[in-house]
Amino acid sequence: MTDARQPEPVPGTDVRHVVWRDDRLHCESADLAALAATHGTPLYVYSEAEICDRFQRLRDAFGPETRICFAVKSNSNLAVLRLLHRLGAGFDLVSGGELLRLRAAGVPTQRSVFAGVGKDEWEVEAALQAGILFFNLESPHEIELLERAGMTRGVRVPVAVRLNPDVDPRTHAYISTGKKENKFGLGLDTAGAAVERIVASPHLSLVGYHVHLGSQVASTQPYLEALERVQEFLAGAPERRSGLRYLDLGGGFGVRYKPGDPVLDPAELGAALVRRVRGMGLELLIEPGRFLVAEAGLLLTRVLGTKGSGSVRFLLVDAAMNDLIRPALYQASHPVVPVVRPDPDAPLGTFDVVGPVCESSDFLARGVMLPPLHRGDLLAVLVAGAYGAVMASNYNSRRRPAEVLVSGSEAKLVRRRDRFEDLWAAELDT
Ligand SMILES: Cc1ncc(COP(=O)(O)O)c(C=O)c1O
Repeated sequence: MTDARQPEPVPGTDVRHVVWRDDRLHCESADLAALAATHGTPLYVYSEAEICDRFQRLRDAFGPETRICFAVKSNSNLAVLRLLHRLGAGFDLVSGGELLRLRAAGVPTQRSVFAGVGKDEWEVEAALQAGILFFNLESPHEIELLERAGMTRGVRVPVAVRLNPDVDPRTHAYISTGKKENKFGLGLDTAGAAVERIVASPHLSLVGYHVHLGSQVASTQPYLEALERVQEFLAGAPERRSGLRYLDLGGGFGVRYKPGDPVLDPAELGAALVRRVRGMGLELLIEPGRFLVAEAGLLLTRVLGTKGSGSVRFLLVDAAMNDLIRPALYQASHPVVPVVRPDPDAPLGTFDVVGPVCESSDFLARGVMLPPLHRGDLLAVLVAGAYGAVMASNYNSRRRPAEVLVSGSEAKLVRRRDRFEDLWAAELDT
């Protein structure tokens, strides 16, 4: 048994603030079993210290002059947004809803950038009214949209052109965004014409360029390739580089979901990018999402029962694909850990951890080695802070989970579980 004074990290992950204390799993100093008893399950639990540490790692890697714009889509809980604002982050937005979230959080929008592959008029209007750093222009029709908005307001709208550099980020096909078959940004063959139109417009101001290659990128190389393509593009005509201020190289910094996963080293990436971008006379922006919040979050779930025998045994739990869709959508693999540390001599069995939703794709993990578990036991699904709660749905008329933010031994409920009435509150009896 472990020494009560020595918290031990969970082996095989980079998670630092989910630890064993007295053989019970804790988030920082908060006992997860106690949180489950208070708030029920499924329950998302986030560690404030992990988010702070990870932000500091990026600050150290990229220096004080790089603008870190947190990708709101990865975790948009208001408490998380407020925390990142306090740490000094700006924000990367992809919808008017995300902009309104920032405002609901009481967070200023001036250090935010607004991307999004299909912007609507009201979103452009709302962003201009709130005041943002710039728009990332993703499609040619947006030139007119932004121009009209600028003309109506009598302002020059700041625009960064999102280039699609056709670089393979070597990640899952569904989270690759910088190849020519992806819908994002302007291809290098068409971006020149768009830049000419922007530069000629009295209502627009070309302030920079944007590239986002995809998510869960594991090495520096794709970023360097993309930067080279941007430099080649800039060299193509003088109007492409006059008056520029920013180069936004997006997010995508990968994290470790399972032992042995190759993982990006932010210090190496920062060292490679900062110098080059400074050499171009531009200010560097990055848009990390997953890197800042993935390891900070876990999903607590309770065992409902076991079934099956022979080659496939199922561990049925009360969390499902509607709570955490990453395994079903991206074949993502999350570490699954019992909340009470098992006896080291307990025999291990191989289980598929599945939820109650009526879909065969409803699994949280497959082929996991676990000790004997019984109805009522608790499990923690780790590295679930990014693209977890934000992608939760009410499928099968399930309530989306509650969320708790932990700081030391203090745990604050930052989102209540849906009420059943919430499930039909927007439906009209016609
Ligand atoms: C434009 C843009 N920026 C940043 C991100 C954040 O990516 P990640 O969470 O992998 O850092 C995304 C997500 O795909 C994105 O689309």
